[in-house]
Amino acid sequence: MPILQEMMTIVSQKEVAHHIFEMVLTGEIVLDLDQPGQFLHLKAPNESLLLRRPISISSWDKNKKTCTILYRIGDETSGTYALSALTEGQNVDVMGPLGHGFPLAQVKKDEHILLVGGGIGVPPLYELAKQLDQKGAKITVLLGFASKEVKILEEEFEALAHVSVNVTTDDGSYGTKGHVGGLMDALTTPVDAVYTCGAPAMLKAVYQHYHDLERLYISTESRMACGIGACYACVVHTKDDPTGASGHALKVCEDGPVFNGGEIIL
Ligand SMILES: Cc1cc2nc3c(=O)[nH]c(=O)nc-3n(C[C@H](O)[C@H](O)[C@H](O)COP(=O)(O)OP(=O)(O)OC[C@H]3O[C@@H](n4cnc5c(N)ncnc54)[C@H](O)[C@@H]3O)c2cc1C
Ligand code: FES
Repeated sequence: MPILQEMMTIVSQKEVAHHIFEMVLTGEIVLDLDQPGQFLHLKAPNESLLLRRPISISSWDKNKKTCTILYRIGDETSGTYALSALTEGQNVDVMGPLGHGFPLAQVKKDEHILLVGGGIGVPPLYELAKQLDQKGAKITVLLGFASKEVKILEEEFEALAHVSVNVTTDDGSYGTKGHVGGLMDALTTPVDAVYTCGAPAMLKAVYQHYHDLERLYISTESRMACGIGACYACVVHTKDDPTGASGHALKVCEDGPVFNGGEIIL
């Protein structure tokens, strides 16, 4: 699949939760989007910030030629802060679509699929849920946030036909108090596949719970530079090569960001 670099146009941008922005973009890249879980590499509108920012694609609409990203901004010196100041009609220099996303060809109607998302790892699970929903799978979504003020996308997941959503917050300000681990423990129905994206501690908890499952898919993050597999900035250690000595490294940007459960060391 070709990787495009394009000046995409902002259709809209707004703050949807505390310091979390939703940006809708239009451009040719949308037509090449393939798997939920792929990401875009965005250039911040600040010449002193050379490295692009990797941001997952939260959803897309090929008919409208639009895609949506949700991202958390840093302080005033950060690239994401500069991106959040852009408004409708302005352009963003974007590379994409990048990486391998969540495989879902094996999913059949009426299978029970579990999605576990945490914080700013939740967005890529939304396009996944949309596509699983169209396949007629029964989807349980467990979402964990630090607090109510950073909760995102709950209503969007709930609007899908075959989805049931449970939310936890660390401080108990919304939903069940605590981490999504508690909700995983409480699940009684067996699951056919699990897809997850979130903070490293949450990914470890999901792995511990479901490591025996063949269809466990984990989306990871790493510091990135090139984003296309050339610089080796984003190398992860694998189960088969825990020290990286073999030289057959896996790269989050090219081989990931989604890996099979157990393939990499979390
Ligand atoms: C595959 C992938 C998908 C991601 N999807 C999302 C998403 O959907 N929404 C979201 O809010 N965040 C996402 N992130 C994290 C996001 O890329 C960083 O939070 C962001 O780059 C930080 O940039 P900054 O300008 O705010 O911070 P700065 O402090 O200005 O960043 C300095 C440098 O560090 C890099 N960096 C800092 N934190 C991270 C991080 N956690 N991961 C990778 N690089 C980092 C930046 O890209 C930049 O090069 C994703 C990361 C990866 C690897
Ligand atoms: S960021 Fe350069 S190889 Fe992944």
